[in-house]
Amino acid sequence: MSEQITPEVIYDQISDIIEASQSTISSSTTSAELESIDRDVLGKKGSLTRLTQQLGRVDADVRSAIGAKIAEARATIVAAVDTVRDSIAASENVARLAAERLDLTEFAPRIGINGSLHPITLTRDALEDIFVGLGFSVEDGPEIDDDFHCFEALNLPVGHPARSGFDTMFVDVGEPESTMLRPHTSPVQVRVMQAAVAANALPIYSIMPGKVFRRDTPDARHLATFHQLEGLVVDRSITFGDLAGTIDTFTKAYFGGDIDSRLRPASFPFTEPSAEFEIGCAICRGAGCRTCSNTGWIELGGCGMVHPNVLIACGIDPEVYSGFAFGFGIDRLVSMRYAIPDIRVMLDNDVRFLSQFA
Ligand code: PHE
Repeated sequence: MSEQITPEVIYDQISDIIEASQSTISSSTTSAELESIDRDVLGKKGSLTRLTQQLGRVDADVRSAIGAKIAEARATIVAAVDTVRDSIAASENVARLAAERLDLTEFAPRIGINGSLHPITLTRDALEDIFVGLGFSVEDGPEIDDDFHCFEALNLPVGHPARSGFDTMFVDVGEPESTMLRPHTSPVQVRVMQAAVAANALPIYSIMPGKVFRRDTPDARHLATFHQLEGLVVDRSITFGDLAGTIDTFTKAYFGGDIDSRLRPASFPFTEPSAEFEIGCAICRGAGCRTCSNTGWIELGGCGMVHPNVLIACGIDPEVYSGFAFGFGIDRLVSMRYAIPDIRVMLDNDVRFLSQFA
């Protein structure tokens, strides 16, 4: 039988345990710290429990009084834990919600998080690099333009049936239907030719990328606001072969040497002869897939030799100069390159989509 101990020793230990517990409880900021009380004090091997086991070593007549004191201490400590448990849980919840928070604001100027270029901008930049490498300049023009530049000078006089094919959005300025959101980038051709004539700066080797607008209901393959890249060459003795070679060169430079291009007869008022140009499907690489409707080819844009009437409207002598022009959708190129099934994601501003191009 082990040595007797006096009630005073036990009472001292009880107050030490209460004091230590209270200081742990009041300094706890996490539920893990709080749980240490359960384990180290109240648990099976906890200090208070061990004290109970010592009751056998005190005089039998004070044993129940000491037992009651220990039970009282336990109740005090449990109550102290309970009062802080809820507030610790609440602040932990706040911290967890803050950590899991999704920032849905359009701009997130937070330190360490950089924005990135939109895939359309990246593609436009890559195309500009290719054409600048071929000796082309990059030109700009207004997004709102007039009838002369959008249609008239492009051999599309008032009443021409092909005008309706452009699904133009008109702006309520001046005469009805005289001012519009440009439905293609071809009006920039007209401006570039006029400027070159005024500055006596022919020949022209230029591309004109930019935003265009059509009255169109967006679907998986169409947007009402999209982007085109127009190309224009005007020089002496330019041939259709130069056009085909330029298109094939940029196709291979952008997609890789195994992607071919081909021209199919088409009709545009501003070019003669005209063609639609197609490129080998970059998704299935010609084998046939859903995107290319199993043909292995994707139609990208239009092209042709600049119509003599267009040269004349811009003050260029078609007996001396000839040229070619082409125009295609940048957005379609992006969706091809990255195999994007629905083109509408380009305008959704969803960070989960955009951050893939960071
Ligand atoms: N502007 C035409 C369109 O938007 C494309 C094109 C450009 C065709 C240049 C021929 C030459 O449909």
